[in-house]
Amino acid sequence: MDRQWVTIIEPFRIHSVEPISITTREQREQELERAGYNLFNVPGPRVLVDLLTDSGTGAMSSEQWAGIQRGDESYAGSASWFRFRDAVRELFPFEHVIPTHQGRAAEKIIFSVLGARGRTIPNNTHFDTTRANVEVSGAEALDLPVSESLVPSSRHPFKGNMDVEALRRVLAERDVPVVLMTLTNNSGGGQPVSMENLRAVREACDAADVPLLLDACRFAENAWFVKLRENGYADTPVPDIVREMASLADGMTMSAKKDPLGNIGGWLALNDDRLAEQCRKLLILTEGFPTYGGMAGRDMDALAQGLREAVDEDYLRYRIRSTEYLGEALDRAGIPVVLPVGGHAVYIDARAFLPQIPPLEYPGQALAAELYREGGIRGCEIGTVMFGRQPDGSEQPAAMDLVRLAIPRRTYTQSHVDYVIEVCEYVAERAGELRGLEIVEEPPVLRHFTARFAPL
Ligand SMILES: Cc1ncc(COP(=O)(O)O)c(C=O)c1O
Repeated sequence: MDRQWVTIIEPFRIHSVEPISITTREQREQELERAGYNLFNVPGPRVLVDLLTDSGTGAMSSEQWAGIQRGDESYAGSASWFRFRDAVRELFPFEHVIPTHQGRAAEKIIFSVLGARGRTIPNNTHFDTTRANVEVSGAEALDLPVSESLVPSSRHPFKGNMDVEALRRVLAERDVPVVLMTLTNNSGGGQPVSMENLRAVREACDAADVPLLLDACRFAENAWFVKLRENGYADTPVPDIVREMASLADGMTMSAKKDPLGNIGGWLALNDDRLAEQCRKLLILTEGFPTYGGMAGRDMDALAQGLREAVDEDYLRYRIRSTEYLGEALDRAGIPVVLPVGGHAVYIDARAFLPQIPPLEYPGQALAAELYREGGIRGCEIGTVMFGRQPDGSEQPAAMDLVRLAIPRRTYTQSHVDYVIEVCEYVAERAGELRGLEIVEEPPVLRHFTARFAPL
């Protein structure tokens, strides 16, 4: 028997490096003013540790870079396409794979076909682009998370689960063309969905004869949590868990910028021939020919390799542990975080951290700005700025006000994370002094990307 070491190391060594430019507090203060206190407006070189997103920000492996060289750029039927399609179907054996440039393009296509005024599309929790694409189609995007998912301190092992009873009621009462399940639940704290819950959702969909699609960006992290936390899966290889999840669905949307370890890419996969045909027609209009969609051949080769690496258990053990390391340290320092720690990110409960700032003065945005001001750390508000604007134009507090510190895959070392912990502790000591923000400029949809703020 191999000894089980306590220290879990990065299962790779660094092959090429990218310098980080060190900025001063004064420079960052100026940068914040210039950016209208919106970190999406801050240039990357002005950020020290960039935890804005885990989307497209991971480090590719030497084998993925080899795939980039191998890329076949034939317009139709390239070798890269077949390698990509086969790698997707190895884990997700759906009939049709429709390649897109990223996840939201897959969403745009499927909801253009299935969404319409008067229809409702339930999800455990819609991500922002998913919600926006549903709403643009005229349909209602309805979140049905289990109640535990709205209590940041509740330690339920599968806080990504859907409330199945609520789903049954919605299926009985409304016009539902499709049900979605987001694995893991990004807007709800990167929390996993159990196989048991997925099976129950499938049964509810079957009873109503409604298809189920996975929003599967973080499928490998979700599968790892199933292996760790759900009875009966401890000895099941991760790829088998992924295939079991896929077997419970009729298709999927995917942003390949997450678990598949790509810098760009995505796909829509479906079993239904007629629906796939309708979607391919839209694909040709807006993305590209069906054997590349929105990707270059080289991107598809990088993803084919990335999909194999994503389900490697040594990688997943390190990945989930390194996120947990940050979350545990913040929790120990008395900083309220969503527990248990999610897969790809640590979510600070800004509403509890800054009780003096009411939700409509955006505690999450204020905290994100402060982490940047003090330490050059860029996180992302997931709260009232992102979700507060209602389709009728009114504004309401979101269910939670969180700041997400997303961990790019294989990108930062433990000392970067120790630095983040030190900065968060420093900000925590001064939390009582922080004030809220007001919005001075905002677009009609997806306002968090471009809105400008001013301190109150
Ligand atoms: C759960 C979820 N769905 C969909 C998307 C959209 O993917 P993309 O950014 O590739 O358009 C994201 C991106 O962050 C996501 O986290």
